[in-house]
Amino acid sequence: MTRPATQAAALLMADSSHELQQRAQALTPDLADRLVAWQRQEGRHHLPWQGVRDPYLVWLSEIMLQQTQVSTVLVYFDRFLTRFPDVASLAAAPLDDVLTLWAGLGYYTRARNLHKCAQTVMSEHGGQFPATAELLETLPGIGRSTAAAIASFCFDERATILDGNVKRVLTRVMAWGQDLAMSANEKALWQAAAVVLPRQGKDMPSYTQGLMDLGATVCTQRKPSCLMCPWVDLCRARVLGEPETYPVKTRKLKRSKRESWCLWVEHGGAVWLVQRPGKGIWASLWTLPLFDSEVDLLAAAQALGLPAPEAQPIVNHVLTHLDWRLHPMRSVSAQALEDTAMPHGHGSDTGIMGRWVPLAELASIGLPAPFRRLLQD
Ligand code: ADE
Repeated sequence: MTRPATQAAALLMADSSHELQQRAQALTPDLADRLVAWQRQEGRHHLPWQGVRDPYLVWLSEIMLQQTQVSTVLVYFDRFLTRFPDVASLAAAPLDDVLTLWAGLGYYTRARNLHKCAQTVMSEHGGQFPATAELLETLPGIGRSTAAAIASFCFDERATILDGNVKRVLTRVMAWGQDLAMSANEKALWQAAAVVLPRQGKDMPSYTQGLMDLGATVCTQRKPSCLMCPWVDLCRARVLGEPETYPVKTRKLKRSKRESWCLWVEHGGAVWLVQRPGKGIWASLWTLPLFDSEVDLLAAAQALGLPAPEAQPIVNHVLTHLDWRLHPMRSVSAQALEDTAMPHGHGSDTGIMGRWVPLAELASIGLPAPFRRLLQD
């Protein structure tokens, strides 16, 4: 997005890393002091992973919250802890059980890494999460910002988080209009985020939570509630009058498109499902057999002697990198069907094994969200 090119704007805009660091210095320690006080008074305190210092709980919540909203995570978090109360029980569980519990949260690499991480904590760290951001970041699935969140919540470490929400909050308060698609600019923002940290480690949990709360509830992408913000009079983007134009990131995500046809065969209160291969999207989860074309699907149905499959409403499954159109085609068979004759799908998405799953048992099998909606609604 372009910035207003007025003289005042030019003066207020930070256009180099050096300028950004100076702005960060000028805001220290006000920014942190005010945010800590605001979080304690106005921030969120009711979430089950708050106020605890157990890295297992904090880690689990942070991984779940990476791509999923709080209201959904609340349900899964409870369920997960009931089944896996500690890192040892999670590490000892079969991956399939973890994936089944994760089903519906999406982005299943998170679940696979979660399992791998629990096993690494057991085998290489004596069952205890390491107590620094630097070491936490070496574990599977824990990135720089998540490592910092865990270290600041559990160990009071002065470590910097910088997720999407925090980038927005910090680029606005410092009017940093440089393109974050360039790694040098992103690096400069990490440095500035470190400059404005609270001086004392004991303030870190409130500060880190405050950044998250501010981004989620006040400094929102659209229509930020500037008058509710503890930084209202410090915020350069607000003075410039266009806080919504920050952050600037030019690179547009290119989603590839894909279409698949799903053969939905029911017989005697059961549906035929195949387990996906161990790699790739939905790895090891259960789906209807997928085909690359309607012709392929109809040929498979005909070979089985099924009643003509009927087209169902298209399901659009949108992922970060992929726009996937699923065409369900349903056929209810009156005759018993041999397992060995049943199709596993075609092309690159061939399932590795299949079975009849009673409709009543769908809840206890790892189904990706679009199939759960399709089959259980
Ligand atoms: N998003 C990421 N981490 C969070 C947390 N600790 N609380 C609320 N939302 C979050």
